[in-house]
Amino acid sequence: MPASTEIALPREALPRHVAIIMDGNGRWAVEQGKERIEGHARGVERVREIVTEAATLGIGQLTLYSFSSENWKRPKAEVDFLMSLFKHYLIEERPEIMRQNIRFRVIGRRSELAPDVIEEIERSEQLSAGNTGLTLALAVNYGSRSEILDAVRDLAGQVQSGTLKPGEITEELITNHLYTAGMPDPDLLIRSANEMRISNYLLWQISYAEFWVTPVCWPDFDVKVFHQALRDFASRQRRFGGLTSTTGPVGE
Ligand code: IPE
Ligand code: IPE
Ligand code: MG
Repeated sequence: MPASTEIALPREALPRHVAIIMDGNGRWAVEQGKERIEGHARGVERVREIVTEAATLGIGQLTLYSFSSENWKRPKAEVDFLMSLFKHYLIEERPEIMRQNIRFRVIGRRSELAPDVIEEIERSEQLSAGNTGLTLALAVNYGSRSEILDAVRDLAGQVQSGTLKPGEITEELITNHLYTAGMPDPDLLIRSANEMRISNYLLWQISYAEFWVTPVCWPDFDVKVFHQALRDFASRQRRFGGLTSTTGPVGE
């Protein structure tokens, strides 16, 4: 039985794009008396589960914060482990990505990643480019400020060369120069492990996303928790700066 039947929400009540800050792998490991890397390994299992569930539910896009541009500050052994985990995920998950009709993407400054990792990313992106189900975007070496900086530099270059006038720079043009070009903005932003911060994630794109935080650490983030986030999202009233019928009379 597909898990989607358990959630009892109509497709239109689901977010089109869910972004997740997968946090708390280290804390989970400490709680279990394990090493941090075991938390990361367990976290990958949760990625598999949540990706499959999002695809089954018919969610359009899932964007997972996997490695931030600031995570290079961590001990080399942890960074090396995370990169190796990512490479293995790319290779091992490819058949499943194809079977589930998932379109795979990576956002972030990929030129700073190791050549063998870049090669695997490109292989998965190319192979899955024609898939029509869930878009799975992994944010790797991703930082929102550097993303905006890259876009500004590109647009400034166009202005300097005379192909673009400052007055022609619109919100849409900026959107189309981000790593997320062509992707819808997230409707729901989930963060695990109880931190109430954004940590340089999708700053431009989340301007009207609904924020949902859980104390559950990512290695314990299962389908039940995911469903709770989706149900809570469905009960939220989004206003986008306007009013709804329940926000009271205006008065004279
Ligand atoms: C999230 O878990 C995974 C990455 C940032 C790569 P953490 O490793 O940040 O776990 P905590 O926050 O230390 O518990
Ligand atoms: C954000 O988590 C990055 C990822 C989940 C990949 P961090 O653990 O790096 O965030 P901070 O340092 O607590 O803000
Ligand atoms: Mg963390």
